[in-house]
Amino acid sequence: MKRLYNLMLVCLLIVSLSACGKQAGTGRDNTVTGDISFNFETKTVLLNSGYEMPIYGIGTYSLTGDTCVESVTAALNSGVRLIDTAYMYHNEESVGEAVRNSGIPREEIFVVTKLYPNQFSDAEAAIEEALVKLDIDYIDMMLLHHPGTDDVEAYQAMEKAVTDGKIRSLGLSNWYVEELEEFIPQINIMPALVQNEIHPYYQENDVIPYIHSLGLVVQGWYPLGGRGYTAELLGNEVISEIAAAHGKSSAQVILRWNLQKGVVVIPGSSNPDHIQENVELKQRSCCFSICEYKLKTHTALSCLVETGDFQR
Ligand SMILES: NC(=O)c1ccc[n+]([C@@H]2O[C@H](COP(=O)([O-])OP(=O)(O)OC[C@H]3O[C@@H](n4cnc5c(N)ncnc54)[C@H](OP(=O)(O)O)[C@@H]3O)[C@@H](O)[C@H]2O)c1
Repeated sequence: MKRLYNLMLVCLLIVSLSACGKQAGTGRDNTVTGDISFNFETKTVLLNSGYEMPIYGIGTYSLTGDTCVESVTAALNSGVRLIDTAYMYHNEESVGEAVRNSGIPREEIFVVTKLYPNQFSDAEAAIEEALVKLDIDYIDMMLLHHPGTDDVEAYQAMEKAVTDGKIRSLGLSNWYVEELEEFIPQINIMPALVQNEIHPYYQENDVIPYIHSLGLVVQGWYPLGGRGYTAELLGNEVISEIAAAHGKSSAQVILRWNLQKGVVVIPGSSNPDHIQENVELKQRSCCFSICEYKLKTHTALSCLVETGDFQR
């Protein structure tokens, strides 16, 4: 009887250990898991791939040609070291040009690009195309831009590029809880990051902790509400009130709110003053919180809880 009891105990232990492995989704041989909290001193986060990534950068959607080169150059001159581009933005050449001409050591700059679903069927060629267009030796991080047909195969092609030293870290964009649960068991290298839409009107308070629980960094697109909604978000009564109370701009309050949630920010801008403003974010954490209020429509945020001084 005692022997049977012991056997059952061992079985239970084995079952729960394997369940743990599945639930965490980490612990794969080729991943480094660890602390993904932000280091506000170095302004970086350590990815599960073992590479450090800046916690704020510049987004380049809508920036093309000379405007893109000039905006990325202004960002690099302001201390930005993270640049988000994509095949679909038609500006990888311009981003590469700004990086190469910056005089900043390549290792200090982190470039993210993405494969679009219409490239998934021949991802290997698409990766080569991105490497040629960027012309910066290697890609710091490549994401699948959206879920789509052949996304697993495309991800596997990116995994091979990691093995070949062409890409350093991998990630996904516009993947939510269900999509991640289905996708992760089919791949070998855990993504290091998920890039999704996040801003005060789209707070993702369930999705962010789930992604963090997998040991993945979250990056938010449209941090300032995106093209079309930026004026409304920046003019929001509560956010403007917080900004005025602390001598900051609405953009700075929103970006800081993201960072405090553990969300990397990549605001897009072609205005050097805005670019500079977007990097002047105080390092102290837990200064204030915009009430976590899920908004169905783009109406004013209804409450604000202050827990400290944004200035100090
Ligand atoms: N993965 C995806 O599916 C996906 C989708 C969309 C976007 N993204 C990425 O996310 C990035 C951010 O999104 P986004 O650029 O579309 O929108 P955004 O960052 O939310 O907003 C950009 C707008 O904010 C303005 N702005 C920036 N800083 C400002 C400041 N300090 N004060 C006032 N206005 C300011 C910009 O105008 P000015 O030029 O005048 O500064 C621009 O009109 C994109 O660039 C892209 O890299 C990814």
